[in-house]
Amino acid sequence: MKIISVVGTRPNFVKIASFIKETSKHNDIQNILVHTGQHYDEKMSESFFRELSIPKPDINLGIGSGSHAEQTAKIMIEFEKVLLKESPDLVVVVGDVNSTLACALTASKLNVKVAHIEAGLRSFDRAMPEEINRLLVDKISDYLFITERDAEKNLLNENIEKSKIFFVGNLMIDTLLMHKEKASNLKPILNEDYAVLTLHRPSNVDSKDSLKNLLEIINEIQLKLKILWPIHPRTKQKIESFNLNINEMKNLTIIEPLGYLEFMNAVMNSKFVLTDSGGIQEETTVLNIPCITLRENTERPITCENGTNYLTGIDKEIVINTVNEIFKNNKKEYRGIELWDGKAAERIVSILKNEI
Ligand code: UD1
Repeated sequence: MKIISVVGTRPNFVKIASFIKETSKHNDIQNILVHTGQHYDEKMSESFFRELSIPKPDINLGIGSGSHAEQTAKIMIEFEKVLLKESPDLVVVVGDVNSTLACALTASKLNVKVAHIEAGLRSFDRAMPEEINRLLVDKISDYLFITERDAEKNLLNENIEKSKIFFVGNLMIDTLLMHKEKASNLKPILNEDYAVLTLHRPSNVDSKDSLKNLLEIINEIQLKLKILWPIHPRTKQKIESFNLNINEMKNLTIIEPLGYLEFMNAVMNSKFVLTDSGGIQEETTVLNIPCITLRENTERPITCENGTNYLTGIDKEIVINTVNEIFKNNKKEYRGIELWDGKAAERIVSILKNEI
């Protein structure tokens, strides 16, 4: 079986790591790794390959940043050439980023089968670029691998055939369980109590008003607890271009994006995490660290039901009340999630071997 696996952004690298590790155990599978180049900074890309022992990509499309149309179109043009040259049996895409959609669409137009890992998640918010990517990728995929049962309901509601859906667990959690010990053995970044912050959603950081509002919330929290903020390049640029002043927050430590192991270490040793990321809601749940999700919706409801996730939106009062509850030690505990057991990759590969 000849597979092309596609990655483009940070969360993709984390997910593909355990899939590639698993396919490498099978002599009858050839797995070609294509990096679209959507993320390209050393700290956003290469460091993940190194730390997660992902082999160097066989092909790098070198696309880089751009508008949605530009990025998606450029990836499609370059990926089509790869498909024509390689004629794989299957293209594997993960997550919901522009690289995921671009490559799934290109493959599907060439009648190459597509497997979507992390299918069926829905925020029901089409203003999110990722939601459009999810809807379209799922519609054209042949194999839909889901991480939680709600995803099946979402797909069936969209008239996707049940026979294409496979509940297998979560690759991001496979990778976490595999690297947890190594991450916990690193030297802690801070030797005091702190919270971790990450922000990059366009709905939060691309408008001055909402970013300003978030900074006010952060200001209030840092009066009580140190905040460690590995800042996403998108957010850094926005703070600069909106001329927002963050220098007065004495208890806010802004650092460059962290590598995977350092970031997991920072999360494990924190009091709680404030984030608008998707994957971090899952990782904090399994690490049993409270997660305050600064969004109005989540495509990962299981992390609120069985995990440590609080969906607060960006209402100051709600966020601060949640922080206070966590301070009082009145917090959610991880109750376990079905199939988040580190064996998702194994299940996916065994299904693919049966089906193809
Ligand atoms: C992308 C994904 C998002 C995912 C996130 C993970 C889409 C639509 N968005 O968002 O779903 O949660 O990755 O991080 O696919 N930049 C750099 N260096 C890099 C990469 C980006 O400086 O290595 C800067 C560029 O100015 C770029 C901006 O960050 O324009 C945004 O990058 P982009 O890949 O468009 O989206 P993300 O916000 O990273």
